[in-house]
Formats: sequence, structure tokens, C-alpha cells
Amino acid sequence: MKIGINGMGRIGRGLFKALWNNPYLEVAAVNDVAEASMIAHLLRHDSYYGGWEAEVDCAAGLLRVNGREISFFREDAPERIPWKSCGVEWVVEATGRFKDRQALSGHSCPVVLTAASRSVDRQVVFGVNHEAIRDGDKYISATSCTTHCVAPPLWALNRAYGARTVLFNTVHCYNVSQTLVDAPKSDPRRARAGALNMIPTTTSASIAVEEVIPELRGKVCGMAIRVPAPAVSLTEIIVEAERPPRDAAEVNALLSSASSGDLKGILSVCNEDLVSQDFRGTPFSSVIDGPLTAVNGGLIRIIAWYDNERGYVMRLLDLLNYLRLER
Ligand SMILES: NC(=O)c1ccc[n+]([C@@H]2O[C@H](COP(=O)([O-])OP(=O)(O)OC[C@H]3O[C@@H](n4cnc5c(N)ncnc54)[C@H](OP(=O)(O)O)[C@@H]3O)[C@@H](O)[C@H]2O)c1
Repeated sequence: MKIGINGMGRIGRGLFKALWNNPYLEVAAVNDVAEASMIAHLLRHDSYYGGWEAEVDCAAGLLRVNGREISFFREDAPERIPWKSCGVEWVVEATGRFKDRQALSGHSCPVVLTAASRSVDRQVVFGVNHEAIRDGDKYISATSCTTHCVAPPLWALNRAYGARTVLFNTVHCYNVSQTLVDAPKSDPRRARAGALNMIPTTTSASIAVEEVIPELRGKVCGMAIRVPAPAVSLTEIIVEAERPPRDAAEVNALLSSASSGDLKGILSVCNEDLVSQDFRGTPFSSVIDGPLTAVNGGLIRIIAWYDNERGYVMRLLDLLNYLRLER
């Protein structure tokens, strides 16, 4: 299946690399407002994950990776990107600029959006509700990295214990939605220097989790604290249970069993006492920190780690592969 990527930023480039050499999914074209030489440079060098072993360069209208040519466009509006001329079948919209249905409809192909959006046909967390995708769905939101961290374990906990209410707080690394130095922004806290501050703010996952697990509508309340770390985040999830478990060991056993069953490859349970950098590059959407699970009366607390870039990119890959097979 031929893929186009709009926006060669953190997620776009991560996906580009993850798709490289994939026998079934081929990046046929990419688009960004930057010059091809800059995107080639940023593909070769990455401050967080390190360099890429592939040979990357560019020429007029194309990127070249190990000698293979990929069409490169430099348009700022989806309407102007000639995806069809390269045979693109699905576009991954990863600019962070185009999120509502009207903007997405500028693309000449169906779209997987790398952000939560309520005006799409379907919001999906792979492993939890991807089977809800229907043939006519043209605009599919892959929601957010935090939704991918929260929804899988919450889905398992809700099934076993019934959730009355859910609170979560994601301790999230900084990203491009913040500023490097203090600068005007609509959110006065996100306007403050991202690498200097702990910044309480909102998360789109609060709403998206309820969309992907409809039984939880009206029950979930979440927030984020952005912290001065470049990648890897964690979420504390507190569930008020209708049928409380006996103890933390029971909860961990349940989540371990889900991680080798329904949620294999999506959820994992770690029983070592680790810290954020130990989770750099983890391909799972959500890794439960077993020693930190707690049960207190009717409340269950779990802590879940995620590499917000790598884990998310791996689920985009799963989703695209699912679309290839099912559509
Ligand atoms: N980073 C994460 O951990 C993460 C995880 C899951 C989902 N997401 C979501 O994925 C989206 C992208 O995030 P990101 O972190 O990859 O952001 P990013 O690094 O800023 O990447 C966005 C890229 O799109 C380019 N761009 C901006 N406007 C464009 C336009 N009109 N046409 C074409 N390209 C354009 C940007 O160029 P300029 O830099 O010049 O603007 C940049 O290269 C966001 O919606 C974000 O919420 C991010």
C-alpha cells in the first residue's frame, strides 16, 4: 500500500524510518514546508534516537534513501499536494496543523490523522477499538500518544472491575506545542519555557479515551504536567472500581495476562524499578510499572510508561497495516 506523509516532523520522520524496508507499506511521497535538504539532514541526524544508518540525500523534488527515490513536495495546503500523481492510497497527516474534517478533506486521499479530533469518521487506539473501523471511514484519527498509553490498561481494568470514575495525570515530556523560551501562546502556561518548567496543562486524551471506550463516557477526567525531558512520559491512572480487586498483585496479574492476550504487543508489564530513560524506544503503547501498582479500598492506581514518539509510531504502522489488509 502506498503511503504519503504530510509533515516530516518528529512523528513524520519516525514513521518514515519505521516504514523503511517494510515489505507491504511503501512511502511513495512526503510533503513539508521545509526544503528537502533540511528534511534529509534531520533524517540522518536525531538528537534523541541517534543517527540513521541509511544513506539519505535529495535532488529536485525528491528524497533519495539508499538510492531509492521518494517524491518530495513543498506545499503548505493539502489541496495543492499531488498525492495521486504518485499513487498514494492513504495520507498520514502529521503536521499538527490540519485536524478538522474540513481541513483534512483538502487531501485527495483518505487520511490517518496523528492527533485526536472529534470531526473525523473514527477515533482509534490500535488494540482497543481498531476493529470498529468501517469501509466508508475516510478520516481516521489515531488519537494521541497519551490516549494510547491510557486506553489499553483502562480497557482491561474496566472489563475486570468496572470503572465508576477515572482520574489520570500524564507527566509528559515537552514537545513542539510549547515554547523554548517564554513567548506568547493561547495557554499562558504553555507560553512558558518548556525546558525550564513543570507546566500543568490539558490533554486531548481526556476526551479521546471516552471516544475509544464508549462505556466510560462522562467518567474520565485527565490532565498533563509537561516536564523538562525530551521524550518518554508516564501516566498515573486512578480508577474507582465497582468491584474492587483484592490487592495490587491481582491487578498486575490481570494486566500481565492482558499483555500476553488481547493486548499483546500493545501493553507490557515491567517488574524492575526503572526510570524514564530505560523506556527510550520502547515499542509498546503502555508499559505498566508493576511495583508502583496500588489498591486502596475501592481505588486502583497504576503507573504506565510510554515513549510518546516511538510507541505511537509503532501503532501508526499497525493501523496502516490493518487498513491494508481490511480495506
Ligand atoms: N511528538 C509526539 O510525541 C507526538 C505523539 C503523538 C502524536 N503527535 C501529534 O502529531 C502531530 C505532529 O507532531 P510532531 O511532534 O511530529 O510535530 P513537529 O515535529 O512540529 O512536525 C510537524 C511538521 O510539519 C511541518 N508543517 C507545519 N505546517 C505545515 C504545512 N502547512 N504543510 C506541511 N508541513 C507543515 C512542520 O514544519 P515547521 O516546523 O516549519 O512548522 C514540521 O516539520 C501533532 O498533531 C502532535 O500532537 C505528536
